[in-house]
Amino acid sequence: MDNLRLKIGELDIHRLGFGAMRLTGYRPAADRTEAIRVARRAVELGIDFIDTADAYGVGANEELLAEALHPYDNLLIATKVGHTRPSPREWIPCGRPEYLRQATELSLRRLRVERIDLLQLHRVDPAVPLADQLGALAGLVAEGKVRHVGLSEVSVQQLQEARRYVEVVSVQNRYNLTDRQHEEVLDYCTAEGIAFIPWVPIAHGEHAASQLLGLIAGELGATAAQLSLSWLLHRSPQLVPIPGTSSLDHLEENVAAAALTLTETHLARLAALSPSR
Ligand SMILES: NC(=O)c1ccc[n+]([C@@H]2O[C@H](COP(=O)([O-])OP(=O)(O)OC[C@H]3O[C@@H](n4cnc5c(N)ncnc54)[C@H](OP(=O)(O)O)[C@@H]3O)[C@@H](O)[C@H]2O)c1
Repeated sequence: MDNLRLKIGELDIHRLGFGAMRLTGYRPAADRTEAIRVARRAVELGIDFIDTADAYGVGANEELLAEALHPYDNLLIATKVGHTRPSPREWIPCGRPEYLRQATELSLRRLRVERIDLLQLHRVDPAVPLADQLGALAGLVAEGKVRHVGLSEVSVQQLQEARRYVEVVSVQNRYNLTDRQHEEVLDYCTAEGIAFIPWVPIAHGEHAASQLLGLIAGELGATAAQLSLSWLLHRSPQLVPIPGTSSLDHLEENVAAAALTLTETHLARLAALSPSR
């Protein structure tokens, strides 16, 4: 399909990105060599947008990307701050301005950069005024430590409020073919020219095992996972899927999804699979 590039701020990216979360667990990667190989292969295959977070591997994910890919030639590494990980199962929002500043300083060091191209607020902390959380990020932009700011898991109302405090170039909400609770946010982002980065784009891998998707995909000579990703790329020109994988084979398969073109008939059949429309 055409229409595969997008500007995030002034940064031009290919719309099929890579989610790095699965390269590490709560702890550093068990097989560091293989994880580095996957990250490097993603770039070789043309991916120029990689999503990480300080919370992934409690810093280990950013460190791994730096080891694999620094100095990031024509590569946008987007990270996130605002979640603490006191244990593997806990993701606790922390939006206190001083914490967001410190977390960003640590991400800068781990990623080995002077400025983070895209810093996303991982979660809005309900205990802290939004103005304070975004104010902290706006301060980091003013100081040149952050180039662009994005949000994650927000409503249209929160997004509109946030835009009063800082320019927001991206939103990362949970979204895929069968989980479309954030349709309204996607439509808002599309209308406003804000990048929409759906996480769990292939539903934690569930779409890859879907017989129904496999049937339609088979008609196109594709796999179910590729069809699921292609549907996202067709859904909006602002949409940037970031499928996550620790497998070289799945990575190659997912990247190839960008070459698929779906007809109106395919899109209508896929739309019928959605629980919310
Ligand atoms: N903003 C947020 O709050 C938030 C939350 C969660 C995630 N994220 C971001 O979103 C990214 C994507 O989310 P995700 O990784 O959780 O979910 P996902 O991309 O929907 O699914 C990843 C799962 O699918 C499997 N998979 C990937 N490609 C496949 C293929 N072609 N065939 C079969 N199975 C395949 C992977 O296993 P294998 O490793 O075996 O391939 C993995 O188990 C993350 O990496 C992270 O960067 C953001």
